[in-house]
Amino acid sequence: MQRIVVLNPKGGSGKTTIATNLASYFATRGQRPVLMDFDPQGSSVRWAKKRQPTQPPIHVIAAFAKDSRTTRSFQLRIPDEATHVIVDTPAAVEPRQLPEITRDAHKILVPVLPSDIDIHTCSRCIGDLLLVAKIPREENRIGVIANRVRRNTLMYQALIRFLHTLGIPIVAIIRDSQNYVRAAEQGTGVHEMKSYLARSDVEQWGSLVTWLTGTADDSLSPRGAPPEGTEQPAGDSPPQPASQAPEEAAPPAQAPEARPNEAHAAAHPAVDGVAAETAAAL
Ligand SMILES: Nc1ncnc2c1ncn2[C@@H]1O[C@H](COP(=O)(O)OP(=O)(O)OP(=O)(O)O)[C@@H](O)[C@H]1O
Ligand SMILES: [Mg+2]
Repeated sequence: MQRIVVLNPKGGSGKTTIATNLASYFATRGQRPVLMDFDPQGSSVRWAKKRQPTQPPIHVIAAFAKDSRTTRSFQLRIPDEATHVIVDTPAAVEPRQLPEITRDAHKILVPVLPSDIDIHTCSRCIGDLLLVAKIPREENRIGVIANRVRRNTLMYQALIRFLHTLGIPIVAIIRDSQNYVRAAEQGTGVHEMKSYLARSDVEQWGSLVTWLTGTADDSLSPRGAPPEGTEQPAGDSPPQPASQAPEEAAPPAQAPEARPNEAHAAAHPAVDGVAAETAAAL
């Protein structure tokens, strides 16, 4: 059983989107995912409740709820047949809470949006995971997801450089797509949508799945799942990771923004400050 924690103290970075779509992915592959919602907003629980009996099952646990009728351990009980536990966490998690939240996590996913403030918060979060939660980077448990990427932008350069310095990979680049908004409304995921609608989105999960499971899922690769007769409309998707191999999903290999000759231009006082602090403390 693999425990995957989706975490970023910044609100709206895509934690619930990643958690629900990941649960949906595993469910469509015949696995038994459990979605554990620690956010009092209960977005993941609401999403799961919208699912139809015909959809592949996802066991959901409202971990945020305080239920005086049962013990806490009974409330958080994982079914024996569970293959993956995906943990959705609230915004505004404090650094001192990180050791507990990440304890027992096989993988920690940090989604980040392409804005200065989000990149700065993400850098802090990574620093806290390394320094406060004391997760050794050699264990390859922390992966960043660049979320809502609109086009091939230079916005991520400072983050990419920072992550590269610390040896933290960007494990997926997810485009901004209305399919995620629709999926959230309908209790579904891009992996459950018609491939002619969501093929470009589905393909972007290939590098993440490989990093999480250690095995490539060919149906997620551009050559894997053939379109169902219809061409995908021209989208605004960014360049994809060069390879599905986990090592090659590291920032410099997959992110064209990280070209060394451009790195100097990416100086970003806030991120670079955190980078220097973190590197010095490690
Ligand atoms: N790749 C994407 N493309 C389009 N919309 C997205 C994408 N990722 C997230 N969104 C939308 O952005 C909003 C915030 O996403 P989400 O709820 O997943 O963030 P969150 O980190 O869980 O927020 P919170 O911290 O409040 O729990 C939602 O409306 C979601 O549908
Ligand atoms: Mg959320």
